[in-house]
Amino acid sequence: MSGDGPPRDAAPEVGDGRDPTAIDRAVAVLRRGGLVAFPTETVYGLGADATDPDAIDRIFVAKGRPSDHPLIVHIAEGAAIDRWARDVPAVARILADAFWPGPLTMILRRSPLVPDAVTGGRDTVGLRVPDHPVARALLDAFAGGLAAPSANRFGQVSPTSASDVIADLGADVDFVLDGGPCRVGVESTILDLSGDEPEILRPGGVSRERLADVLGAAPGSWSGSGPARAPGMLASHYSPRATVEVVTEDEVVARSGLLAGEGRTVAVMGPRAIAGLADEVIELEPVGLGDDYARHLYARLRQADRLGADVLLAVAPPAEGVGVAVIDRLRRAARS
Ligand code: TXA
Ligand code: MG
Repeated sequence: MSGDGPPRDAAPEVGDGRDPTAIDRAVAVLRRGGLVAFPTETVYGLGADATDPDAIDRIFVAKGRPSDHPLIVHIAEGAAIDRWARDVPAVARILADAFWPGPLTMILRRSPLVPDAVTGGRDTVGLRVPDHPVARALLDAFAGGLAAPSANRFGQVSPTSASDVIADLGADVDFVLDGGPCRVGVESTILDLSGDEPEILRPGGVSRERLADVLGAAPGSWSGSGPARAPGMLASHYSPRATVEVVTEDEVVARSGLLAGEGRTVAVMGPRAIAGLADEVIELEPVGLGDDYARHLYARLRQADRLGADVLLAVAPPAEGVGVAVIDRLRRAARS
């Protein structure tokens, strides 16, 4: 990471996540304080030994991320919760049983094992057990926690394939484990259990409805504009280069025609095919509904950029299930 390191466009070492020798190489990189990108069911993470402050610093440098934005610690199993957190409420264990491994991050009071570098000095830590065979193999072999944000540069679209990671981070990541495309496609739901009432800080792969089923009541959802409860949850985030506009199915034909008429390169995306678009409007392959929309969302945002779109018009899915997380990401992308 010093000035005489590899240039930014150099490529990292890449291993097939199904290959046990690649897992061994990744563990060796982690043990010497290096950075390993690995697949999870949500998005790819940029991992480092969660107990090594120097390795954690490298994550912030590679991402260009402000150091007060805390990182999620990924652990191999729910049984490890008490190593990383203290005063763990009963509800956390119930949720861990219900949703781990899976796309739920719980904010808990941190144990002394967690360095300040991970939490930005906060008294809490985000924990999750990812549900991806490669992530689990890596965590099992490493036998420790991995602090990992999404493996993209700060403010950009999260990566859902190994090639996305390589395109974003180049040789700023030491090793990339390729585990194919991510199944969920949007980040984990972040649930704060450190206060009096459970509160959703970020909608994600586990829907509010599913949480309510287990909790017996829907958790609150923080949407204030005061001091950030989840630092790093910026209003504008997840942004491609193209300007994103969220539109309804009824608006998309007229709006795309208007913008194209002004000479802008316009791409459109939505759950299903759109009839009546002008010839010069780029129609991205439909993303489907529900889980399918989430799975394809970030790949389409990246594709719009590759195709040189100035504007991307996105027809949002219904606000139910993981659709709530999709709408959240589209709104943040649109605000940039
Ligand atoms: O699905 C995911 O959660 C992915 C994969 C790699 O696990 N990770 C991810 O990490 O999205 P990241 O760093 O891009 O987003 C994590 C967010 C931070 O922006 C921050 O708001 C919140 O988690 N967070 C982490 N620790 C926290 C804490 N102690 N208190 C409040 N918020 C926290
Ligand atoms: Mg991120």
